[in-house]
Amino acid sequence: AFESDQPIWLFGYGSLIYKVGFDYQQRRPASIHGWTRRFWQGSHDHRGTLESPGRVATLVASEGAICHGMAYRIAPEVLKALDIREKNGYVRVITDLYFEDGTRDEALVYMATQGNEAWLGEATAFEIAQQISTAAGPSGPNRDYLLLLADALRDMGHDDPHVYALEEALLALEAGAG
Ligand code: BEZ
Repeated sequence: AFESDQPIWLFGYGSLIYKVGFDYQQRRPASIHGWTRRFWQGSHDHRGTLESPGRVATLVASEGAICHGMAYRIAPEVLKALDIREKNGYVRVITDLYFEDGTRDEALVYMATQGNEAWLGEATAFEIAQQISTAAGPSGPNRDYLLLLADALRDMGHDDPHVYALEEALLALEAGAG
C-alpha cells in the first residue's frame, strides 16, 4: 500500500506508457483485468484548454477485458512529483497486476471516473478524432498524445481496437485537411 515507504508498482495505461519523467527501479510490460482504455476523459490543463478541451485515456470497467500497459516499480515519494491531480477527476485504485511471465502483484492506478468535472464520455471515433485534432495544451498537441500511445501499444504487440480506430480517424482527418 502507498501509505508505507516501501516501493510500489504504478500501472500506466496512457502517457505513462511512453513518457517517463520520473525515477523508477523497474519497468515491465503488464496488464490489469476488468478495465478497458477509453478516450472519454477531457483534458483542459494538459492536452487542451478550457475553450478547447482535449481527450485523454481513462479506464472504464468492463467484465472480461484486459488493459495492457506498463508497470513501474517506484518509491512512493515519486507519486508526489507526478502531476496527477485528483481535482481533475483522477482517483487512485489498487488493483491486481499481471506480468507477461504469468506472475502477479498489486499496482496503483490513476483513473478518471464517470461524472468527474472533466468527464466527456462516449462519442464516435470521428467525433473524438475531430476533437483531438484541434486541441493542444501545456503538455503539447492532443494528436501527439494519441499517436504516441498508438505507436507504443503497437511496439508492445498489443491490439487495441479503440485506440487504433481513433488513430485511423485522426490520420484520415489530417490527410483530408492537408
Ligand atoms: C497513465 O498513463 O496511466 C495516466 C497518466 C496520467 C493520468 C492518469 C493516468
